[in-house]
Amino acid sequence: METSTLKSIAYQLMQGSKGLLAMDESTATCNKRFAELGIPQTEEYRRKYRDLIVNAPGLGDYISGAILFDETIKQSTADGTLFVDILKRNGIIPGIKVDEGAIPMLGFPGEKITEGLDGLGERLKAYYNLGARFAKWRAVITIGTEIPSTACIKANAYTLARYAMFCQEAGLVPIVEPEVVMDGRHSLARCAEVTTEVLHAVFNALYQHRVDMECMILKPNMVLPGEGSAEKPGADEIAEATIKCFLRTVPATVPGIAFLSGGQSPQLASERLNRMHTQFGEVMPWVLTFSFSRAVQQPALELWQGKDENIVAAQKALVHRAACNSAAKMGQYSSEMETV
Ligand code: G3H
Repeated sequence: METSTLKSIAYQLMQGSKGLLAMDESTATCNKRFAELGIPQTEEYRRKYRDLIVNAPGLGDYISGAILFDETIKQSTADGTLFVDILKRNGIIPGIKVDEGAIPMLGFPGEKITEGLDGLGERLKAYYNLGARFAKWRAVITIGTEIPSTACIKANAYTLARYAMFCQEAGLVPIVEPEVVMDGRHSLARCAEVTTEVLHAVFNALYQHRVDMECMILKPNMVLPGEGSAEKPGADEIAEATIKCFLRTVPATVPGIAFLSGGQSPQLASERLNRMHTQFGEVMPWVLTFSFSRAVQQPALELWQGKDENIVAAQKALVHRAACNSAAKMGQYSSEMETV
């Protein structure tokens, strides 16, 4: 694959005031979210929900790329139009989650390793033919007593790098997602320390595996205290800890950083992204944007409840959150946007 084509895709994904929409929940995760709201957990309801998302009026004004799941990339609207074609029509580049989930790492209690390298080259070719132009792979790093171990960090970093190389070879821009999860009671400082170590390991592995860093996107966590921690830092402190960590670890040649939301509330995720831009917009060498799932979708899912009569309200809520995050990317978000 021509490097210039990959660079151009990465550039389009990071363009202007737009961000990415992660709508790549696995069947199990999607069913879990449906179950919490009493929505039937069937393929047809998952299709209806994704139909609502891809057809939300105005979504393409704020979203440049949508990450799909294996089931979704092959699905169509009720009239038979492939979701991929609707996305493309709305100026949204289709992407695909290609990891096969994180499983317990043998010999390392409490830690996980992501699977999915077997047959990846062939799967990527098939996804390319279905219209995907970028991919995503998520590694999970947990903070706890004496974890993460060096072995877990290195194994996940190497796997991310092998995946990224496969993607670039197949003509897809890799989104490299090493997520330090919020579970636990650790401090902001501990999250900063672990995220720094993880990102150093990931970029070292990418370098060793000859991944072109100009043709990839990093999808990291924000630096936050664990959800069980008593620390409640403000957006300023979080912005400073996060951007300092990235300035120390992420090469300036990486075109873009697109955050996961990781369980933050939709409003906090927007406020924190905004603060990073207002405080550090001048010094960041990369584009900084969002690639949220829950922080964009959750309000819409709660409104929809699986009912056709709620589709319009759910679509409005979805596009509203996309608009809030788009404003945050420009440093123009304010809490007043939440009251309109
Ligand atoms: O891999 C995780 C998703 O792409 C992002 O999900 O924003 O709900 O953390 P989240």
